[in-house]
This record gives sequence, C-alpha cells and structure tokens, in this order.
Amino acid sequence: MEIRFSAGSLRDCEGDALVIGCFEGARPEGPAAEVDRALDGLIESLVESGEIRGKQSEITVLHTGDRLPCARVAVAGLGEAGRDPLLSVRRASGAAARYLRDRGCRRIATGLHLGTPPGVRPEHSVRAAVEGAYTGLYRGEECKTKRDLPDELDEIAVVGLPSEDRDDPVVVAGRAGQVSGEATNYARRLINLPPNEITPSRLAREAAEIAAAGGLEVEALGPEQIGELGMGALSAVARGSEEPARLIVLRHRGRADGPRIALVGKGLTFDSGGLSLKPSDRMTAMKQDMAGGAAVLAAMRALAEMDLNLDVTGVVPATENLPSGRAYKPDDVVKAFDGKTIEIVNTDAEGRLILADALAYACHLGATHIVDVATLTGACVIALGHATSGVMGSDPALVEAVIDAGERAGERMWRLPLFPEYRSQLDSKVADIKNVGGRPAGTITAGWFLREFVGETAWVHIDIAGTAWSEKDEPHQIEGGTGVGTRTLIALAERMAGGEA
Ligand code: BES
Ligand code: MN
Ligand code: ZN
Repeated sequence: MEIRFSAGSLRDCEGDALVIGCFEGARPEGPAAEVDRALDGLIESLVESGEIRGKQSEITVLHTGDRLPCARVAVAGLGEAGRDPLLSVRRASGAAARYLRDRGCRRIATGLHLGTPPGVRPEHSVRAAVEGAYTGLYRGEECKTKRDLPDELDEIAVVGLPSEDRDDPVVVAGRAGQVSGEATNYARRLINLPPNEITPSRLAREAAEIAAAGGLEVEALGPEQIGELGMGALSAVARGSEEPARLIVLRHRGRADGPRIALVGKGLTFDSGGLSLKPSDRMTAMKQDMAGGAAVLAAMRALAEMDLNLDVTGVVPATENLPSGRAYKPDDVVKAFDGKTIEIVNTDAEGRLILADALAYACHLGATHIVDVATLTGACVIALGHATSGVMGSDPALVEAVIDAGERAGERMWRLPLFPEYRSQLDSKVADIKNVGGRPAGTITAGWFLREFVGETAWVHIDIAGTAWSEKDEPHQIEGGTGVGTRTLIALAERMAGGEA
C-alpha cells in the first residue's frame, strides 16, 4: 500500500472514496463543509434527519454521482467534540479504512486530520490518522488453509496538507506514522501467531532479521551463556521447558554523549503458570505473554528505520513457563544476575523473575534510562481493565515522559504509586526478597520487585496485562494482540532524541 501526501483540496481528489470526519450532533465544518456544498448539502440534511449521528467510528457512505471527482464520500463519526480529538481521529481513521477496504475500495483519500480543533497540531493529527489507518487495516494471518479476503488497499492519499515537500514537518510526521503503524502491526503479528511457532528461538531469529535490515547490533544468549552469566532467575523459569531460553539484545547506536536508553520487554512465549499451574480457562490466550517483548522488537525495528540519533538497547528475555520434572518449584531459592537471592512462592509470578535478570543486565550494559513493558499482573486487569496500562517508576520525569508519549501514541496509561509502605509485602524469611507480595496491590508489589533490580537507574515499568489483547473485534481494530507499547516506546525515543516536538 502506498501512502501519498498531497496539498490538493478535498474537492479535487479522485479515487474510490474520500473520508471526512463529523462530530456528534455537529454539521460539517471547514473543508468538510466545502465537500458538503459540492454535494448540495446532502451531509447536512442527513445529520438533521439523524441518519448521520457522528458516533465514534460510525461510517456512512454517500455516492457522489458526478458532483465530485471521487466516487464516494465516507463520513466517519468522531464522537463527542472535545473529548480526545487525536484518539477520535485515530479510531475513525482505522474504522473507515477497514470499512472501505472490505467493500471493495482500493484507492482512498482522507481529510480526517483536518477535523481536529484549532489547538491540535497538524503533525499530530496527520500522524494519528496514518497510524490509525494502518492498525485498522491489520487483519493478521490466521492458520486457516482457506481464507476469502478482500484485496488490500492500493493507496491512501492524505490530502489538504500545507505542503507536499518531503521535509515539511507534517509530511515527516506522516511518514513516521507509517513506520510506527507498520511496527505496531508487526508486534501484533508476533503476538497472534501460535506459541508453537513463536518460541524463544523464533523471537531471536526475528531480532536477527530486524538487525540485518536496520543495521543494528544483535546478540541472542542461549541457556549456557545465561547460566554462566549468573542469571539464575531466568534460568529457573526456563528449566521446565524443552525450548531453550534466549536473552535477546538489540542495539541501535546513536550519539555517544547523550542518554543511553534500554527498552526491556517480557518475552514469555507461553505462560502455563509452571507448577503453580493456571486453571485452563486462564491459560488460553497466554501466548500473549510475550507482548512486551514484541513491542520492544517492533520499536527497535522502527527506530532503526527512522535512524534516530539516540543510543537505544532492546533487551528481551524469552522463555516458556511450563511444569515438568525439571521445573522450578515453590520454595526454591534462586540467585539473580545482580547477586540477590529470591524465594519462589509461586511459579506463576515468572515475569518479574525473567525481568529481574534482564533489568540488571540492562544496567550492567550501561543504561542511563530503562523502560520495561510487560504483561505482568492479573491485578492490573482488575485495577484498570482493558482501556489503560499501569505505569510506575523511580524517576518522576521519566514517568511523565512515558505517559506523555503514550498520550501522543493513543496508548493510555495511568500512574500507580510505588510508596515505600508496599515494599515490606515482599520481605522473605529465607532470601533477600520473595517473588509474590500477596493479593493487595498486586501490580504495585510486582513493580517494587522489579525496582530492586535497577539500582539507581531512572526506570519506568508499564504493565500491559489488560491492554495487550483485545477480546473483541472493534470498528478500528480486530480482536487479538494490540501491539500496545510499540508506539509509546517509539514516541518516547523520538522525544529523547529531540527529533520531534
Ligand atoms: N502473565 C501473567 C499475567 C497476566 C494475566 C497477563 C492476565 C495477561 C493477562 C503473569 O505471569 C501472572 O501469572 N501473574 C500472576 C502473579 C501472581 C501469581 C502473583 C497473576 O497475576 O495472577
Ligand atoms: Mn504467570
Ligand atoms: Zn506471565
């Protein structure tokens, strides 16, 4: 699919369909009003009659006859005005692209970015529209031998821009949206593929391909090296599985005198719970437990493509968590990379264990800032549901930067407190720390556990247990992995590289 950035007007664009936005209960405004005049006020009359309501992601297709060069106008609902204009554009864009593709359109044009209120910068609305279209069009590859699918779109033209110059900030933002939209779908693909395909070694192969394509350094440590380095926590989780573990490290070199960022992602390719076995109904969909790792790989791919002038290292500890005669057990005590001893209370709290070694290793590699992304706790799903990821960290400025990047990326987050009072829930009688802090504040005690392994390094943890997987088809996005975290990490890196306002 081609993306074209055009300074031409909505009225002049050609193709199968032109998408414009409409807020709830509002008449067409600005450029949309111009289109409506060409249609002799048809849109306005449909708004008046209640056929077009402007509800978020509602799509109404009008055939233009010979009143416009474009065959159809698709009016996409933006929901209530003043809510969250960028999120509205993002979702409407995904819904419209998907709707039109599924009805045989091949060339569409969009003016959705033009409908945002005056306070919103055009770079941001264009990027939201482009990213939204990509994520809306994603349809995954199911393991079906017969699939009857409509063709892909050939082209999306983003019209009505101030300039077509490739150095124009709005065009640059649109191109960046293309890269981050594609990266999001890459992460979704890794999450959605079955766990017998997406093994730790397959993730390492993916990393090698990303490195080769983007000129990154890559290393994938195997079980022996992981053991020799003293990563007893990752080794313990991996013991029960026949699939060899990997510690994947991808490095993008940028300015040497700036910050050194580490992005760490939980790459648990299947979480059965281990000997603390999950009940079957909670075990299904646990292929999603590598979603943090997928977000890190995808973000690294995008940063390489954007060639950001920033030093970024991606670290993904990858393993399965399975029960067996060799599996690690409740009551075991293991020693992490940094020398701390951990009492195992529950083998299903494995994510924090593999992250403990990965975070300590990121510090060892010289990171000045660490952001980890993990499907870490069921408690986070209870606290924040599926609309918001949980965030905590040791450095308030970095927490703010991450939440801000998430806002921009259409990935909502909410900060949880790492007050010192919670820390004692992890006190162990036999080791330095235990891996479970009981039911109260389960997301926060997991955060505290991770914090023990980052020392004084500025660190933020994003718990995506509730947001990594969408349980139903929505107009703007199909069921399955969401790729959450990918765009936040990209936006954060762009911000830290000073490449974007
Ligand atoms: N991978 C799970 C968390 C999870 C739950 C992710 C639901 C996505 C959706 C994690 O490894 C886990 O099992 N956590 C336990 C921790 C408990 C044993 C302290 C949980 O949340 O139940
Ligand atoms: Mn688990
Ligand atoms: Zn897990």
